[in-house]
Amino acid sequence: MKKRENKILILDCGSQYTQLIARRVRELGVFSEILFWDSPAEKIETSSPSGIIISGGPRSVLDSDAPSIPMHILRSDVPVLGICYGMQLIAHQFGGKVKRGEAAEYGRAKVKFSADGRLFGGLGEGKEIQAWMSHWDQVTELPQGFSATAWSENGALAAFESSDGRINALQFHPEVVHTPKGRDILSAFLFDICGCSADWNLGINWVEREIDKIKEKVGTGRVICGLSGGVDSTVSAVITSRAVGENLHCIFVDHGLLRKNEADQVMETYRTLSLNVHRVDAEERFLSALAGVTDPEKKRKIIGELFIRVFEEEARRIGGSDWLLQGTIYPDVVESGHGGGNVIKSHHNVGGLPDDMKMNLLEPLRDLFKDEVRAVGKTMGIEPHFLERHPFPGPGLAVRCLGELRKERLDVLREADAIFIEEIRKFGLYKEIWQAFCALLPVRSVGVVGDVRTYGETAVLRAVSSLDAMTAEWVHLPYELLDTVSRRICNEVPAINRVVLDVTGKPPATIEWE
Ligand code: XMP
Repeated sequence: MKKRENKILILDCGSQYTQLIARRVRELGVFSEILFWDSPAEKIETSSPSGIIISGGPRSVLDSDAPSIPMHILRSDVPVLGICYGMQLIAHQFGGKVKRGEAAEYGRAKVKFSADGRLFGGLGEGKEIQAWMSHWDQVTELPQGFSATAWSENGALAAFESSDGRINALQFHPEVVHTPKGRDILSAFLFDICGCSADWNLGINWVEREIDKIKEKVGTGRVICGLSGGVDSTVSAVITSRAVGENLHCIFVDHGLLRKNEADQVMETYRTLSLNVHRVDAEERFLSALAGVTDPEKKRKIIGELFIRVFEEEARRIGGSDWLLQGTIYPDVVESGHGGGNVIKSHHNVGGLPDDMKMNLLEPLRDLFKDEVRAVGKTMGIEPHFLERHPFPGPGLAVRCLGELRKERLDVLREADAIFIEEIRKFGLYKEIWQAFCALLPVRSVGVVGDVRTYGETAVLRAVSSLDAMTAEWVHLPYELLDTVSRRICNEVPAINRVVLDVTGKPPATIEWE
């Protein structure tokens, strides 16, 4: 391999934790990159990382088509860490024995370690740590030239290393919070074994370098960008505007499906950030296109297509452009399939522009995770209140207002949602929650106010915690908060006479209701 770069390459064998491993490495100050396990060997080699981490995964190494890594990469001089499936893969490929599991070992476990193990040297004298296990198969025999460095309580192998210390393997997950010493273990791999230095930070130097790169790429060209009011598009626009100034034209389409006062508030934020924004008020166009439509996929399709039409009209009015700026972030790149290519985000606010509007893509945040985007935003002076906003879907309230989308119903939903969020903020819980909102059901029920019988609609309260929106748990909000919200919604929003709480995780539900 050529001279190594100060970065870690993570080979993804299908684990739900792969992105978490990449984030943990970056939190320790080392740049990390994810490639799928079956990426061409040359791609892995030209990446020339200082170390490779092989992730966990749902398969058994004993299956004939299970993920594997070319032996010449495992045998090269680059340090390797296998985690969970990655450990079994190393054992199997080097000639050890892996036994098909009859029962899963899942959850918190105690692991005894040898302080001579290169990954455990920094853990002091305790010789036992808490760790998170999640596996079926087990390594029962080590390959030649490898020795065990940790064991679970029942004596099963929990870690091993090669005699030269270059190859290391863990049966448990150092990247999750349920392995409290996981950070020290990863840190031993990065700094002691791979010899990395902690030079990854998103301060002013990163921002200045990125601005220079954009200047060099775009020169005096013109850039357009669709702003959604979200963090990614805003941070991308702020960086780009610092590089190209007035040549950046941002288009903000108000489709009438935003939250209460949201369009005015985000426009005010854009003004304070000195962005050159063209606001298009398209509420009527969207609502008339959506009239009578109740099917969620049809709603999405209509919104997506109309959005492109409105964006295109505005772009032509501005006089066209050489570059399209997108707020693509690293999870979009990884998730959009085998690690790369300029894939246009499929959701509506940037989706498929017509062929005669061919533009180059500019994606300044394409290497960053969400929390890193927030850090850059902070460096660039964007107010924390804005950066901490919960994610909001492109089709907006259309997927939260079940049934027909009429302005009156959307206004009812906006009022209820604003009350819920206001109370969450008052209770100091906003930052702890990944996403909270109200949905409005097309279900009427009987109620009574004073002596009058009512027949009103139903609001659902949804609040979830999540790491990446792939899975989520419902948040156990305090009863006092729920009580206040329920009373306020019924008192202040007359169209609603019943408030219910969604207590479903993802899976089996999704975060949004449609
Ligand atoms: P689900 O509902 O699939 O949502 O659990 C996962 C995350 O994605 C957001 N979401 C969307 N974002 N266009 C978007 O831009 C969409 O159509 C869409 N649907 C869901 C959702 O808010 C959550 O954060």
